[in-house]
Amino acid sequence: MKKDFYKYQTQTSPHPLALEISHAKGCYIYDTDGNAHLDFVAGVSACSLGHCHPKVTKAIKDQVDSYAHVMVYGEYIQKPAVDYTKLLASLLPAELQTTYLVNSGTEAIEGALKLARRATGRTEIIAAHKAYHGNTMGSLSVMGFEERKGAFRPLIPDVRFIHFNKELDLKQITTKTAAVILETIQGGAGFIEPTKNYLKKVRDKCTQVGTLLILDEIQPGFGRTGKLFAFEHYNCTPDILVIGKGMAGGMPVGAFVASNNLMLQLQDAPKLGHITTFGGNPVIAAASLATLKEITTSNLIPETLEKEALFKKYLQHKFIKEIRGKGLMLALIMKNSDIANHLILNAAKEKLILFWLLFEAKAVRISPPLTISNNEIIAGCEQIISILDTYES
Ligand SMILES: Cc1ncc(COP(=O)(O)O)c(C=O)c1O
Repeated sequence: MKKDFYKYQTQTSPHPLALEISHAKGCYIYDTDGNAHLDFVAGVSACSLGHCHPKVTKAIKDQVDSYAHVMVYGEYIQKPAVDYTKLLASLLPAELQTTYLVNSGTEAIEGALKLARRATGRTEIIAAHKAYHGNTMGSLSVMGFEERKGAFRPLIPDVRFIHFNKELDLKQITTKTAAVILETIQGGAGFIEPTKNYLKKVRDKCTQVGTLLILDEIQPGFGRTGKLFAFEHYNCTPDILVIGKGMAGGMPVGAFVASNNLMLQLQDAPKLGHITTFGGNPVIAAASLATLKEITTSNLIPETLEKEALFKKYLQHKFIKEIRGKGLMLALIMKNSDIANHLILNAAKEKLILFWLLFEAKAVRISPPLTISNNEIIAGCEQIISILDTYES
């Protein structure tokens, strides 16, 4: 398969990990030679319940047997999407009651940006340096990392950048600003948490000048940080919440959520303000519903913080400068990028899956399934420590 993979599938980097997959179950991915790889990455925070969770798998199979796709988004009444959006609304604040289901995180960001411009009649968008929101043109426009977007310019106009956590920059938010878009916890930048009530201050400034606040929870959402959504830690409710990744237990998905009043803007002037063929797909909605029920009716969310403590207890080494993040969204910040590469590549050889972050070369991602056991955490941490012991500077 390897030869055909390189020949027929578009490559995004010169050195893909190129693990040849046989199947996956729980916190293990099995290669075609029969080896089990312990998964500390969860498909980059997507497989929140591990691989092939029986409840998610059953929901998908049942729905496929019933109907898979019948119409474009928004025309027909389909029970999986109705049940899902109703349950989600019951778990969110009163300001966030109406959901638009789409196909990916980046499409949800596009929808949120369009909604903000349409609802405010303003054009300016403010985003953060080192932000990552996806890879389509609108999302690239609000990405705060020039090196990865310069080649694709011109992007959408009227986007300005502020520094995450810098209160002084908030004066740039004015009555011209349609929306401020931020990740609740900056992912690609190195799992940077908001400090000193920063998000509340952004919220207050947005309210003052009539700007909509968009929070991108695509990565921290769905229990990963010890709350269902990370904004619950920071005393700040957005006008538009963007979700994805762990939402459907490993199926492709995204959504943006706002008040009913705000969402009404998408049906008028112009009508069909955002449309999609597969958004709200019943199979994906069924997987999302099973995932959300399992996350919210089990102990997975509170256990996330206990598991964070376990990681922090076992991951002490002179080469680990800092462990950033919250819950099961952790980044080991190594002394330098060479150590990070040494760890990730040797871990791969030893069948422990770790990964890089987009914009912080010294970081090593740890974002396992929420279902990971304490024994699996300890075993993986011991491997990490012994690999670091082999590093020679
Ligand atoms: C914070 C954040 N926003 C947006 C995205 C884009 O989501 P998708 O890859 O599903 O388009 C990602 C994906 O990594 C993300 O982490």
